[in-house]
Amino acid sequence: MLTGDRPTGDLHIGHYLSSLRSRVALQERGVDSFVLIADYQVITDRDSVGQIKNHTLSLLTDYLAAGLDPERSTIFAHSAVPQLNQLLLPFLSLVTQAELQRNPTVKDELAASHRPLSGLLLTYPVHQAADILFCKADVVPVGKDQLPHVEQTRVVARRFNIRYAAGSEVFPEPTALINDQQLILGVDGRKMSKSRGNVIRLAATEDETAALIRKARTDSERTITYEPERRPEVANLLTIASGFTGRAPESLVEDLGGGGSGVLKHLVIEAVNEGLRAHRERRTQLAEDRSYLIQILRAGNAKAEVVADKTLAEVRQAMSMDY
Ligand code: TRP
Repeated sequence: MLTGDRPTGDLHIGHYLSSLRSRVALQERGVDSFVLIADYQVITDRDSVGQIKNHTLSLLTDYLAAGLDPERSTIFAHSAVPQLNQLLLPFLSLVTQAELQRNPTVKDELAASHRPLSGLLLTYPVHQAADILFCKADVVPVGKDQLPHVEQTRVVARRFNIRYAAGSEVFPEPTALINDQQLILGVDGRKMSKSRGNVIRLAATEDETAALIRKARTDSERTITYEPERRPEVANLLTIASGFTGRAPESLVEDLGGGGSGVLKHLVIEAVNEGLRAHRERRTQLAEDRSYLIQILRAGNAKAEVVADKTLAEVRQAMSMDY
């Protein structure tokens, strides 16, 4: 399994419910797991790397606090594994400019970035293919928006095997694992986004969490019902509470009586703060020891390099470049 995040900021409850927990579950089932911090991908759609080191360590902190075990899961930074970038050259030879230009993820990010198309953004699907194929991942847990990348990765793997490896399977074709957790919206009912201030960060305090949820948008109907289409903001709050309590939204509604949104918010605040208490305690402790975090990351980088070296050697051999 390989998956990853871009270190553009702190992780939030959406990440926790949709990706962090399922990564830990895969690890617990004994799946050989790689988690990549995609630092170079930060500059696909913006001009500066920002607080990249802090964000990288913040991601790592949440991975560890959530239960990823660096002994069993390889956690590493893209930039620390140069072999990934070397795989990029043969892979680039296997895709066409037209394929890259019509990739829906590239198009969406280009439109959202309000910038001219950079070479890095254009080749986004190909460096992501290198991320996935270097460890020969079979399973790639991602959000729906990343599906076109996994599709392109399958094409790269297939073409590599045919064109450069005489049909032998140097690279397996990976499968995307789409999470069935419903998308969590921000407290204003729109997409969670740092710039909108509608995000509940895992690093937030209980008071900050409560304040955010208290100002969440609801509607003026007194009785709480779970109707995602008609009442998206109320349904979103119920989905969040459901994610942290493990109870179905319909069953939560039954307990609310005629209490309206005040009672609903109280329930959500309790659910989130309760559900994250142990995680937050661990993350606070971990965050105090920056040198430990760096040490863990370096060990993960070294583990990833060993795997990447082996794959690169196979690629060189398949391509008769094993001098
Ligand atoms: N592009 C992904 C995102 O923005 C992050 C990522 C980078 C990734 N490399 C990956 C995800 C490889 C899965 C597999 O969320």
